[in-house]
Amino acid sequence: MSFKVPKRTLLWGGATSASQYEGGPDMVGKGPDTQDVRPFRPRTSKATTETRLLTKRMVEEALGSGFDGNYPFRRGTEGISHCEEDIGLLKELGIDIYRFSISWARLYPTGHENNPSPEGVAYYDKVFQLVRKAGMQVFLTLTHYAMPIDLVLSDGGWLNRATIDAYLRLAQFVFSRWGEYINYYLPFNEINAGYFSPWNGIGLLKPENAPYDLSEVFQSLHNQFVASARVIQLQRSIAPRCKSGCMVADFCYYANTPSPEDNLRLVQDEQINQWFAVDVLARGYYPSYAKRFFDKNGITVMMENEDFDLLANNTCDFVGISYYQSSVVSCDENSPQTAGNLVCSTVNPYLQASEWGWQIDPVGLRTALNTLYDRVEKPVFVVEGGLGARDRIEIEDGEKRIHDQYRIDYLSQHLKQVIKAQNDGVDVLGYIVWGIIDIVSAGSCEMEKRYGVIYVDADNEGNGSYERTRKDSFWWYKSFIQDYHRKK
Ligand code: BG6
Repeated sequence: MSFKVPKRTLLWGGATSASQYEGGPDMVGKGPDTQDVRPFRPRTSKATTETRLLTKRMVEEALGSGFDGNYPFRRGTEGISHCEEDIGLLKELGIDIYRFSISWARLYPTGHENNPSPEGVAYYDKVFQLVRKAGMQVFLTLTHYAMPIDLVLSDGGWLNRATIDAYLRLAQFVFSRWGEYINYYLPFNEINAGYFSPWNGIGLLKPENAPYDLSEVFQSLHNQFVASARVIQLQRSIAPRCKSGCMVADFCYYANTPSPEDNLRLVQDEQINQWFAVDVLARGYYPSYAKRFFDKNGITVMMENEDFDLLANNTCDFVGISYYQSSVVSCDENSPQTAGNLVCSTVNPYLQASEWGWQIDPVGLRTALNTLYDRVEKPVFVVEGGLGARDRIEIEDGEKRIHDQYRIDYLSQHLKQVIKAQNDGVDVLGYIVWGIIDIVSAGSCEMEKRYGVIYVDADNEGNGSYERTRKDSFWWYKSFIQDYHRKK
């Protein structure tokens, strides 16, 4: 009898995404994208949701005003002008792998061009070379929540199958030019975001005063599934060494009570919210429960016959998750609710929550990794995680200090659980700290919700010097990584 227990040296990383980090809207060559048009609204629960559900009117307002107002993604955290310094800091931090994304509109300003913008190409040439020189592996997200706005306004975004071809032009260029630099990649960030946050995930405009049409949501998702498989097929012919992934936001669901109804609800929510995408992209087929869900909700999706073979023959090599918190499902509509990444949850009395209401659950990460690996039997990778918190600068001996013990606690507890999951027998690749350098929040467009171990001096209104400062968590993460590799 033999057991298959792969034991890899785990990779410890850091991540940013183009729209939240790069900024530089006036740089020649970049077109406006779906994140650029999201305005900042002071925080109320409604404002947070509103900035994620864009109607045509909101988009036209942003474009028509020439972005007159506070559009935080237009500035990001000025990664464009700080990339040498930032990659230098990441090298000093000692991470094994840096996850970043390509801005589609920086390479193809409208998405319709046949050739990429030379300024965009020069920028990413520089980034890939700097990362290699710094000795880090590259984890590339081909697109992270942002697409050229033109593709939405004139083509209908991912609802239109023709967008797949525009996307393949981007992929073709990226793998031909930078394939040799890329170790791991994702065709899409959090593919299940298309369901929870259609603007970010699939570039779908929200009808005025009406909910999204679920057929449109799942049609767009199907087009992304096909695009994903075609990107993998293409990459395998151009740059076969790269490892391809799919990614879902994982919420590690619990049932609120042991009642059979809550338990059934848990299974059904999990099926649609998480495994649906994983089953299609990692296992290569639509699961039977998708049919039940489509029938029950009157959802129709146009699929071509060729799609089924394509999906079956081009499944990904690993499955990535983001994990910030666990969630509780309940059939009781009056159960007390709290916020979370993409989904709300019933309050879990056993857990503390972040200032933003996300329920902190390190053990849930171990559970999530075990459950996912059992399902897919492919390597799994925590490609995002971390604590969004408000940091305070203190001046000590004339130096700026950020004592973010809360973030150190969060990260050290989660990283321990990754190691425990590996000891359980899960083939885990590593953990990547989200927003390693402070970036604009994707959910609420705030700057004060920070994840980084490197502080960026900027506020919600975009004021500040954008100077970088190492937080206490920087020193903690650096020595964690050193100790881990020393003991290996
Ligand atoms: C993930 C996204 O869902 O959550 C990131 O991939 C995002 O882009 C992260 O930043 C944290 O969410 P938020 O809303 O706190 O920025």
